[in-house]
Amino acid sequence: MTRKFKIAPSILAADFAHLGDEVKTVIYAGADWIHFDVMDNHYVPNLTFGPMICQALKPHAKTAAGVAVPIDVHLMVSPVDALAASFAEAGADLISFHPDASSHVHRSIQAIKRRGIKAGLVFNPAEPLDVLEWTIDEIDLILIMSVNPGFGGQSFIDSALRKVELARKLIDASGRDIRLEVDGGINTDNIRRVADAGADTFVAGSAIFGKPDYKAVIDQMRLALG
Ligand code: DX5
Ligand code: ZN
Repeated sequence: MTRKFKIAPSILAADFAHLGDEVKTVIYAGADWIHFDVMDNHYVPNLTFGPMICQALKPHAKTAAGVAVPIDVHLMVSPVDALAASFAEAGADLISFHPDASSHVHRSIQAIKRRGIKAGLVFNPAEPLDVLEWTIDEIDLILIMSVNPGFGGQSFIDSALRKVELARKLIDASGRDIRLEVDGGINTDNIRRVADAGADTFVAGSAIFGKPDYKAVIDQMRLALG
């Protein structure tokens, strides 16, 4: 099955004083998804934004032609279920969470899916993929962290590539349509390597929002992906 690559800019690196404009600008620059990094200063040592910001940004997450662009919510929070429900109400299209942040992973996935939202699991650099053995048939997205969660602008952790390769094998063996997303330290220089390992969806924050011309960066990423 040919995988259409998707670029998911993380608004963690955007200008927080102009978030609505930033979402529109990066979509007009070619973004496929908007990656929304939620941090609770409990599961990770940082605090970002909640469901109300997601709700406020939802109307701006559209292409120039008015086509809705998926909001890809990455929950770095514990516990998971109540906030996942609030983000479902706030317009999230995908909600992924860290299995080690939930006391009952299968139930948390169900809490997302029963609201008609795509569900994903997120794996930190030292987190094994074992839980997929009992959940891969329930999820729509696997997100591999190539940095330790909490901050943008970190360097890519190479061992994530081996985990991407393993996740790709598990997805292909499952025969299910599951997106394989990688988050952290991705840029125009390493994105091809991440794709070659088996990823099809790429989160990039500082590599895009840290540059004046978002379209030039996204075009360069697509060129590198071939
Ligand atoms: C970490 C965040 C970052 C962010 C991407 O918790 O999830 O990985 O999305 O940040 P950059 O692209 O700047 O590494
Ligand atoms: Zn993220």
